[in-house]
Amino acid sequence: MAKIDSKQLVQAAARARERAVAPYSKFKVGAALLTRGGEIISGANVESASYGLTCCAERVALFRALTDGKRNFTAVAVVARAPGGPMPCGACRQLLAEYAPDAKVWVADNRALKKIREFTVRELLPSAFVTFLKSPAGGADGNIRLV
Ligand code: THU
Repeated sequence: MAKIDSKQLVQAAARARERAVAPYSKFKVGAALLTRGGEIISGANVESASYGLTCCAERVALFRALTDGKRNFTAVAVVARAPGGPMPCGACRQLLAEYAPDAKVWVADNRALKKIREFTVRELLPSAFVTFLKSPAGGADGNIRLV
């Protein structure tokens, strides 16, 4: 399978962004995860009239991927109309630290998709809390090994 590069993943996030459901903030965000096997799973933010129920694009993509049985994420791209690209919120950083700890994080402004900034999940959330699930191992039972 052809290797997906940062530009292609950012483009996938930009396409996902078009499907954001953000009638309250009007801040549309798209995210796309890349698996080691080269699959792309995308998502966009979904807002609620009860504002706190809103779910960010990164978590929509991650929950979609995880519940579709996808694991081993090598990168995540996030796109919004934000100078330099949108930085994942704290809640998304936590989930990424748990389920995509080795992923590169690529962010871009949707008006300048070729200007990609790169981070690691570890630098976005140092000393993350991920250690309470000591077993079972990821594998036949479908569970994820955190430590
Ligand atoms: N949002 C995301 O989708 N990802 C982030 O990392 C930060 C914020 C969304 C949530 C909400 O729908 C809108 O952006 C404004 O906060």
